[in-house]
Amino acid sequence: MTRIVLCYPVEPRHVAQIAAAAPAAEIVDAGQERVAQELLSADLFCGHAKVPVPWDEVVEQGRLRWIQSSAAGLDHCLVPSVVDSSIVVSSASGVLADQVAEHAIALTTGLTRGLPVFFRAQEKREFIRRPTRDLTRATVGIVGFGGNGRRLAEVLRVFKTRILATDMFPIDKPDYVEQLWPATGLDQLLSEVDFLFLAAPLTDLTRNMIDHRALTLMRPGSFLINVARGPLVVEADLVAALASGHLAGAGLDVTAEEPLPADSPLWSQPNVIITPHVGGQSATRIDDMTNFFCENLRRWQAGERLLNLVDKRLGYPAPNVA
Ligand code: GLV
Repeated sequence: MTRIVLCYPVEPRHVAQIAAAAPAAEIVDAGQERVAQELLSADLFCGHAKVPVPWDEVVEQGRLRWIQSSAAGLDHCLVPSVVDSSIVVSSASGVLADQVAEHAIALTTGLTRGLPVFFRAQEKREFIRRPTRDLTRATVGIVGFGGNGRRLAEVLRVFKTRILATDMFPIDKPDYVEQLWPATGLDQLLSEVDFLFLAAPLTDLTRNMIDHRALTLMRPGSFLINVARGPLVVEADLVAALASGHLAGAGLDVTAEEPLPADSPLWSQPNVIITPHVGGQSATRIDDMTNFFCENLRRWQAGERLLNLVDKRLGYPAPNVA
């Protein structure tokens, strides 16, 4: 009997929905407590891939056939043994995109409208006025035009922005995006934008992509917003760019190390908003994830192509994965 092991915060109704989608399977709601053990005898897994058991051990059992990640980013499970195995991997790219875009806008407008300054004043009951900045009509750059990047562009459009983007697969450019360049267009994008949004997966090619060189290419007074993965940015270089005033501010939902260590200099930058990797949180997240999984489960059983089928060597779902 096919064993489907779940490790995301499902309620009984979600388990029932999955059971109805796969009537012949055994559904195991393992949760964080039991997942390390249950995963070893799973055929299918759906959940957060940051599991408390080495993926190498799971691969060694030779039983697991499919990982449906409940996260968009797959950096936690694409270890060499999984990549080299026949295990199929699919992601949740796009499932959380509405919320991630909403969060990116919160960080951005929080910075432009001076919320850190005004919150500090509010705590002291001070009614002070300070200059603000506009997102409206700014030039914005989106690095990574997948599920999150595309939704972000839709939202940024409402602010009458000029939108530039880069992607490894620069295809299907919406007409309101002025340029969709290949990844090699990054330097040009950096030099033109007032706001840089990171929405790319963490891979060997993107790790540390925003370093001193890249930050120097950015316009004086520009902003960095990272709703993707912390290690895309060299944090020491970012701190230097903020402290020198070259960057006007940064909105970070992700950091290289999470939780961000208490002694990180990022905490004390006055022009930084830090949130604890909550961009994908939503009241409907578990429902949305379950609906997505059930559709993919249907496809799996019917032998159809999965949604968000990951090219394991690239590290994300590529448009041309067959
Ligand atoms: C969250 O970080 C995700 O990758 O979905």
